[in-house]
Amino acid sequence: MNDGYELLDSGNGRKLERFGEVVLERPCAQAVWQPLQPDIWDRAMARFDRVGGLNWEGRGRMPDRWNVEIAGVVMKLSATDFGHIGVFPETRALWEWIRSTLAAEKEKKGRELKFLNLFAYSGGATLAAAQAGAQCCHLDASKGMVEWARENAALNKLQDAPIRWIVDDVIKFLRREVKRGNRYDGILLDPPSFGRGKKGELYKIEESLMTTLDLVHGVLTDDPAFVLLTSHTPGFSPIVLGNLLRQYHNSGSFECGEMLLTGKPGVNDLPNGNWARWINE
Ligand SMILES: C[S@@+](CC[C@H](N)C(=O)[O-])C[C@H]1O[C@@H](n2cnc3c(N)ncnc32)[C@H](O)[C@@H]1O
Repeated sequence: MNDGYELLDSGNGRKLERFGEVVLERPCAQAVWQPLQPDIWDRAMARFDRVGGLNWEGRGRMPDRWNVEIAGVVMKLSATDFGHIGVFPETRALWEWIRSTLAAEKEKKGRELKFLNLFAYSGGATLAAAQAGAQCCHLDASKGMVEWARENAALNKLQDAPIRWIVDDVIKFLRREVKRGNRYDGILLDPPSFGRGKKGELYKIEESLMTTLDLVHGVLTDDPAFVLLTSHTPGFSPIVLGNLLRQYHNSGSFECGEMLLTGKPGVNDLPNGNWARWINE
């Protein structure tokens, strides 16, 4: 994949990544091996650490904000106090799959498709779906993240695309959608291990995921395209995620795998979370 993101190296519990011109070094517990290229690590413009609190070293050398095209979507990036910068690049291959699947299904079904993105963060998947001509609903409990995603929409000239921007708790929103009769053809959900809804509602994946999945399957159209479930929570392996989806479907196909941070040939792939999807074939 040739774009503004690149994994440069990983090891010693750290990862070295390039986002456009900005090279960052951040923690990554699963990188338990030795770096392949120890001499390139001094290219890092800034470093993030969780030792003794959350700290950026060199934050002043980073631009306040910068834009990078990742998998065909321009994203605004900016350092946050938690070490996030506004994109999880391990999801970029899924954005491409969502874009091409929605475009093909629109053609096949000969109608507009509706896409729902839950826990949608800065909106990479929403914008990939909008690029495919889908009507989108983008939901996150954080007002700031929804504003960030709207800025990303404008950067991609999608400010007038048919996207509903919703700040709400996922479970409350889905209950209302079931009652309102709103239905979706493709749904992506990326539940966090632990999160808070709009009014502080507690979200714990172990306790909340089954309710979320029941509701997700209550808002599918009669002839949907897919449900895509991703997770960064330890223990939620590709097979676990696939088994969760299999509970709801006795036809169609299932696929699953690891989300990967990747770089040029020769750089070790770095697993960062898992995915599974049901495809209505
Ligand atoms: C791990 S991020 C999702 C990453 C995103 N899907 C991506 O790949 O770029 C989790 C997001 O879920 C949101 N969130 C957490 N609990 C929530 C809840 N109960 N309802 C809605 N959103 C929630 C957070 O605000 C955060 O933006």
